[in-house]
Amino acid sequence: MEIVVVESYRELSARAAAVVGDEIKKNRRPVLGLATGSTPEGMYAQLVRMFNDEEVDFSNVTTFNLDEYAGLHPEHPQSYHYYMRQHLFDHINIKKENIHIPQCYNQDVSEFCREYDRSVIAAGGVDLQILGIGGNGHIGFNEPGRYLNCLTHLTDLTEDTIKDNSRFFNSPDEVPRQAVTMGMGSIMHAAKILLLASGNSKARAIKHAVGGTITTDFPASLLQLHRDVTLLVDREAAALIEK
Ligand code: F6R
Repeated sequence: MEIVVVESYRELSARAAAVVGDEIKKNRRPVLGLATGSTPEGMYAQLVRMFNDEEVDFSNVTTFNLDEYAGLHPEHPQSYHYYMRQHLFDHINIKKENIHIPQCYNQDVSEFCREYDRSVIAAGGVDLQILGIGGNGHIGFNEPGRYLNCLTHLTDLTEDTIKDNSRFFNSPDEVPRQAVTMGMGSIMHAAKILLLASGNSKARAIKHAVGGTITTDFPASLLQLHRDVTLLVDREAAALIEK
């Protein structure tokens, strides 16, 4: 695992966007795996700027998002469909048919999940997967536990995640209790992984992710088994690995 420590969230966002931009430029049909949440917001803002400055063209890009809450309409302001339109897709020239985001609203979830995995394979697999990390070590919504799923699936969110993500909702009661997420196996199949983390609240998770026991109780620890992971962190998130 390559570890890059930067001084600020701004630098982290610019570096992450540059990695994505390079992948798009060097690949004729780039396939990106995308995350939501607070961490990649600055990266998306940079990518929109790069598109406006004609540094990057999204017309041949295909994307697969990691996850989506169960039961939230795609127009719901806290849905990841909405997030992706707001932060990226509404501002760039990506083709609608090349955008893939898990859905779990009024449909057969297991059939949807199988179809999602088939679409990733049909696209040739993910070239560059962007990841954030949960305070409890989750990746996508692969939550800590005795087992991890390989493929896309419906999952229960842990109390930790519900509490963490309640900051985006009016109250913890409004946070959906389930989500659809790509599985750990699908994520580990990406050719390259870029894991982003910023701030003190991620320092403990980063420490467990980069060293120590590989365990389903801390899903991010499995990334140690991947052959091409770059961890891009600011000083605060790196605090416990720098010591
Ligand atoms: C979101 C996702 C999650 C987040 C993680 C960190 O698509 O897959 O695993 O990356 O919960 O979220 P933030 O960046 O909000 O701290």
